[in-house]
Amino acid sequence: EKGGYEHFMIKEIYEQPKAVRETMSGRLAKDDSHIIFDELKWTPEEVAGINKIAIVACGTAYHAGIVGKYYLENLARIPVEVDVASEFRYRSPLVDDKTLVIVISQSGETLDTLAGLKEAKRLGARTLAITNVVGSSIAREADHVIYTWAGPEIAVASTKAYTTQLVTLCMLSIYVAALRETLAAAKVKELIQGLRDLPAQAHEILEDVEPIKTFAQQYGFNEDVFFIGRALDYCVALEGSLKLKEISYIHAEAYAAGELKHGTLALIIEGVPVIALATQPDVYEKMLSNIKEVKARDAVVIGIAMKGDDHIRNYVDHAIYIPDAHKYLAPLLAVIPLQLLAYYAAITRGCDVDKPRNLAKSVTVE
Ligand code: M6R
Repeated sequence: EKGGYEHFMIKEIYEQPKAVRETMSGRLAKDDSHIIFDELKWTPEEVAGINKIAIVACGTAYHAGIVGKYYLENLARIPVEVDVASEFRYRSPLVDDKTLVIVISQSGETLDTLAGLKEAKRLGARTLAITNVVGSSIAREADHVIYTWAGPEIAVASTKAYTTQLVTLCMLSIYVAALRETLAAAKVKELIQGLRDLPAQAHEILEDVEPIKTFAQQYGFNEDVFFIGRALDYCVALEGSLKLKEISYIHAEAYAAGELKHGTLALIIEGVPVIALATQPDVYEKMLSNIKEVKARDAVVIGIAMKGDDHIRNYVDHAIYIPDAHKYLAPLLAVIPLQLLAYYAAITRGCDVDKPRNLAKSVTVE
């Protein structure tokens, strides 16, 4: 059932090109001019009635939600707030019939997310579920459902669910942007073409995992690892850090790179590995300054950058490249080396990758 792979997690990491292709299947117009969501069929009037979006999820799905905020705000120009479900449901959220509440859940069974969805409905919100499991509790409860079609995810550490959630959120944002007329046709086309490139680009990363494996073997016994990034790279940093913690038990923290000097920089000392994501062109120079900051404290810096960025080699100890992608889609690729890093670090340390201690695949208790 593991199809020749040693663990479900690595199998699912390698399934990402296919999973992402499935998520997009039938949803990209042939001429790349628009997104098709037969399951929504929203009208401009309906969308005009939404003045705010709240995204509610847990764990990795929450990290996808943060990327979703970025997409929806930038592309569709609607204010978005993102909450972890266990906070949302108890904080009297400002949600009403003009709010669209999007819940994201791979399993569709996470108790807090389901409760958040019920609370949103009680407050009169329209609800949309993004989930991977057909007929799950969350799918049944929501007004609208978009399935991610990632195929079953067995490993506790979520991988292909995250990338397919990101693709879904990107498509949803383009879809809503079209209804609100906030995105020029040329930009829509550019993004859809970028989406089409993703499966092959993800495949390309998976063809050469040696550098990241070597790195994981070399630093797998360190006690602390830091992940830094700005903008979308910060969202990916959060996910990379969660992955490392949950399966390799290495203490990891993700920081918005600009926040370092507000406290955390005190922890950066000689030899501490820092994974620095630098895929976002708009904040690239700022990111380089942050890399210099940690290098000046003798951290070991691994830069994750887009292919073609030779410049970064002057600042980091090791550079890991992802294919040159649309900046909004870079997170889908940048997360893959981080998933692999967590996997190989866990293997190096002899951890039970598919069943990490204290964790369950589906959290159906509070
Ligand atoms: O099934 P869900 O997407 O609702 O699950 C949410 C989290 O429990 C899940 O993403 C968890 O954080 C994973 N173990 C992360 O790898």
